[in-house]
Amino acid sequence: MKATKLAEGVYWVGAIDWNLRDYHGYTLPGTTYNAYLITGEKNVLIDTTYPGFENQMLERIKDVIDPLKIDYVVANHVEMDHSGGLPKITKMLPGVPIYCTQLGVEGFGRHYDTKDWNFHVVKTGDTLPLGGGKTLVFVEAPMLHWPDSMFTYLAEDEILFPNDAFGQHIASSERFDDEFGVDEAMKHAQKFFANLIIPLAPKVLKKLAEVTDLKIGIKMVAPSHGVIWRKNAGGIIQAYADWSHGVSKDKVTIVYDTMHGSTTKMAQAIAEGVMEGGCQVKFCLLKDGRYEGVHRSDVVTDVLDSKAVIVGSSTLQDEYLPTVAGFMSYLRGLKPGRLTQKKKGFAFGSHGGHGGAVKLIDADLKTAGIEIFRDPIEVYYRPDESEIKLCHDAGKAIAEAVKTK
Ligand SMILES: [Fe+2]
Ligand SMILES: [Fe+2]
Repeated sequence: MKATKLAEGVYWVGAIDWNLRDYHGYTLPGTTYNAYLITGEKNVLIDTTYPGFENQMLERIKDVIDPLKIDYVVANHVEMDHSGGLPKITKMLPGVPIYCTQLGVEGFGRHYDTKDWNFHVVKTGDTLPLGGGKTLVFVEAPMLHWPDSMFTYLAEDEILFPNDAFGQHIASSERFDDEFGVDEAMKHAQKFFANLIIPLAPKVLKKLAEVTDLKIGIKMVAPSHGVIWRKNAGGIIQAYADWSHGVSKDKVTIVYDTMHGSTTKMAQAIAEGVMEGGCQVKFCLLKDGRYEGVHRSDVVTDVLDSKAVIVGSSTLQDEYLPTVAGFMSYLRGLKPGRLTQKKKGFAFGSHGGHGGAVKLIDADLKTAGIEIFRDPIEVYYRPDESEIKLCHDAGKAIAEAVKTK
């Protein structure tokens, strides 16, 4: 197996997980666990892989040096997709110094038997000189995205190793953004941000300001998943700022599920209104047993990219349909209200008995930080002509309210 060179003495030695299709509810076309090797007077391994992928990493390290010649390990993040190789590495290299945050030490201790591990706790600004004109600088990044998270910066080569931040779930033969296609990589980065980073938006903006204040050059951003940003390093950093600010298209995402098609009729009327109002529509049926639905991890990517989100459900046993319940739980957790620019939305749906779904959706939208644009639209059984018009007009009104003037 081959390593990939980023710069003189800097290599990607990670693992490709071609077959992964679901990562705690996030659909993905495979991923990579990126580990990096810096060689010279001192040899450093930055991060490892998910358990079971460490041999792939070791084979790639062997392409450059004997793994027994690793002098230091940097562990930016406790989560197992980046630390799963540590038990094997510490067994191969007893006493190897492991550089991580204090919360990293605690977190590793809850995952592995670390009593013999040689931790070196680092804080923001601490450096590790490697000799031969290479220095590592550590930057704590608590809650980006775990309490233990840390960025590592290779000063002379201006390469940032931010672990999960700026990552994308892609399994590809290409290691760099320009080889894979910058636009395509950005789409995957946006999905990653939508599903993992939205609730952290205020922290992202603070961290970006901190990094800007350091006035350091960043030639390459080498995250722990997906391709390395070498052509678009500035672009992905700017995109994180834009996404955190809630910058989005003149677009409205309509997401719903239906029992017998009444809620679909309402959704279609709303969509027609949105188009007339001058916004693009993203139409997301979650699943109704006849149609293949759009997965919630893709829906939230469109929500991030939209100025409004309209959610509908038929009522089942006084509740929303389970697909919509799952989506709303996911949206509540992501807290899009933490983005600087708030999104607008409202609830709609049909019911037979007492109803109930739209009230639940309305409450969830509020909890998620979506600004309620209007009262929920609730229809008894099938929507009649006037109710279809009501849906249409509501779609048109929200589009006109959110579109760029
Ligand atoms: Fe993580
Ligand atoms: Fe990760």
